Amino acid sequence: MSILVTGGAGYIGSHMVLHLLEKGYEVVIADDLSTGNKEAVLANKFYQADIKDEKAMARLFKENQIDGVIHFAAFSLIGESMQEPLKYYENNVTGTLRILKYMDEYGIKNIVFSSSAAVYGESPSPIKENAGTNPTNAYGETKLAVEKMLKWASKAYGINFAALRYFNAAGSHVSGRIGEKRKIETHLIPIALDVALGKIEELLIFGDDYDTFDGTCIRDYIHVSDLASAHLLALEKMANEKKCGLNMIYNLGSEKGFSVNQIVEAVKSVTEVNIRTEIAPRRSGDPAVLIASSEKIKKELGWAPQYTDIRDIISTAWEFRKKMR
Ligand code: UFG
Repeated sequence: MSILVTGGAGYIGSHMVLHLLEKGYEVVIADDLSTGNKEAVLANKFYQADIKDEKAMARLFKENQIDGVIHFAAFSLIGESMQEPLKYYENNVTGTLRILKYMDEYGIKNIVFSSSAAVYGESPSPIKENAGTNPTNAYGETKLAVEKMLKWASKAYGINFAALRYFNAAGSHVSGRIGEKRKIETHLIPIALDVALGKIEELLIFGDDYDTFDGTCIRDYIHVSDLASAHLLALEKMANEKKCGLNMIYNLGSEKGFSVNQIVEAVKSVTEVNIRTEIAPRRSGDPAVLIASSEKIKKELGWAPQYTDIRDIISTAWEFRKKMR
C-alpha cells in the first residue's frame, strides 16, 4: 500500500511518515518546504512541491499508484491567519480542493484530513464532536470549510474521509530523529524549553486573568506519535470497509487540561532549570479552556494513546530540543 502524505516534512506529517514506514507502508511525500524541514523528509519518494502546483502534482499522481491520502499540508499560525485570511483560504481550502480532484480522477477513495480543535471556537469543555462549530479565527474557518467540502465530495464521488480534530500536539518521536522544529516558533512548550536552554530570556504568559483556577489558559496536550497512530487507524478502517462514502469526525486529545502555569512547572521539573516568566496581555483569539472528549475514537477505532503523563510528553520534546540545530 502506498500512502501520499502531504506536508510530510512538517512536525506532525514527519511523525506520520515515520509511523507508516515502521508499519511497512510505502510513502510518497509532497511538501514545498515552506514551513517543513528537509532533514525531516524520511521517505525515499519526495516531491518538493506546493500541492496547488498542478504540473508537479499531476506528475506525482501519474508516477505513483496512491492507495490513500493523509493530508497535512496547510498553513497553521492562528495569528497570521487573522492578518492574512486569504492566504489561508487559498492554501488550505484551494489546496485540498486540488487534492480531491486528483483523488476523483485517479479513483482514490480514502483520505484522512488534519483538522483542528480550532473549528469549535469557545465551546464548553470537555468538547465532544457534536458540539457547535464556531471558529474564532480564520485558520479554524479554513479547517471547517475543508471538512464541509469533504462531506460533499464524499457524497458525490463516494470518497471516504476522516477529519481528525487535534487539540494541542506536543512532544517528539522517542528516537529523537524528528521533532517540533519550525522556522517561526509560537508554541508554549518549545518556547519554554528554549528558555530552559538559555536561547530565550523569559517566557511571556499571555494573560493571567482568565476564568480558570489559576487565571491562565487551559489546554489539552496530546503526543504527536499518538496523533500519528490515530491517522493510521482511521485509514485502515476505510481500507478494510467495503462501503464507500464513509464520513468520520474524531477529536484527538488526552482529555486532561493543563494551565500555562502547570506546563511551566512541568517543564521546570523535566529540565531541572528555572523558567523565567512574565505576565503579558492576553493573545487575541485564545479561548480560556480547550479540553477534548476523545471517547468516540477510543470506542469506534480502539485508539489508545501511549503517552498519558504530561512530563513524559515534555521529556520527549526536551530530548529533541537539546539536540536541535
Ligand atoms: N502561550 C503563552 N506564551 C507563549 C505561547 C503560548 O502563554 O509564548 C499560551 C497561549 O496563550 C495558550 C497556550 O499557551 O493559552 C497554548 O498556546 P500554543 O500557542 O502552544 O497553542 P494554541 O492552543 O494556541 O494552538 C494549538 C495549535 C493550533 C490549534 C489549536 C487547537 O497550535 O494549530 O492548538 O486547540 F488550532
